[in-house]
Amino acid sequence: MQRFADKVVIVTGAAGGIGSAVGRRLHGEGASVVLIDRNSDAVAALAESLGGRAIGMAVDVTVPAENQRMVERAVEHFGALHGAFLNAGMEGEAGPLESLVEETWSRVLAVNFHAVRWGLVACIEPLRRAGGGSIVITASVAGLIGVPGFGPYASSKHAVMGLMRTAATELAPLGIRVNSVNPGPVDNRMMRSIEQQISPGHGDEVKTKYLTRIPLGRYMTNEEVAAVTLFLLSDDARGVVGAHYVVDGGILSS
Ligand SMILES: NC(=O)c1ccc[n+]([C@@H]2O[C@H](COP(=O)([O-])OP(=O)(O)OC[C@H]3O[C@@H](n4cnc5c(N)ncnc54)[C@H](O)[C@@H]3O)[C@@H](O)[C@H]2O)c1
Repeated sequence: MQRFADKVVIVTGAAGGIGSAVGRRLHGEGASVVLIDRNSDAVAALAESLGGRAIGMAVDVTVPAENQRMVERAVEHFGALHGAFLNAGMEGEAGPLESLVEETWSRVLAVNFHAVRWGLVACIEPLRRAGGGSIVITASVAGLIGVPGFGPYASSKHAVMGLMRTAATELAPLGIRVNSVNPGPVDNRMMRSIEQQISPGHGDEVKTKYLTRIPLGRYMTNEEVAAVTLFLLSDDARGVVGAHYVVDGGILSS
């Protein structure tokens, strides 16, 4: 399937589990991809492994001007921009609300919320010039329910839901669709970190406990999140605006 032939798409957090799965799959479906991460070696290696139609770029998305630079580079290199997957994120430190330091709140909000805002705003003009496009934001089930012990993370993901819905309604008249993908626990680095933070040295036990709350009985995979993301980025979803697509194995329905 070549749903993205002649399309140019930016992926942030492209060195990570979900971002790299989306970058690979977009490329496989014909897209030219701009792979963004602060981990420059990893995005360079991913771009290299994909061959043509892929560039890697080291960007710290928490620097507003860097978001502008990534968009300009995409247009310079590939001639236009048709989509963006704003996905870079971090879990931050765990702890009860009263124990968390200011630094944790500001870092998590900077990456998971403000950087998404800057990235989204930077994409508007080139997407408008292309006659429209699609922006997908990675939120989380933590953007829809509270998560004890992860206040900054859940707050940042709730904030991004407000941004997504507002941008969706503001930008739809320009032909720019904005939606979110909201994963539950995904079997990758971020969940290993969360499990270890909750019970250092006993991550496996935390995972076993989490699994009892997932009707599907397992964590999601990066590829399962990528499949839904590609749908939202593609013209198959041309009527989908301001929606959140949950990929959580049934957690929120149980
Ligand atoms: N893993 C899960 O269980 C899960 C569940 C729900 C939502 N999410 C969300 O999915 C997204 C992707 O996470 P993942 O699971 O692939 O984890 P990950 O840690 O593998 O990937 C996150 C990527 O973002 C990059 N990044 C972080 N801060 C950055 C910055 N300032 N500038 C540029 N890049 C930066 C990291 O280098 C990393 O490559 C995140 O937004 C995360 O909150 C993950």
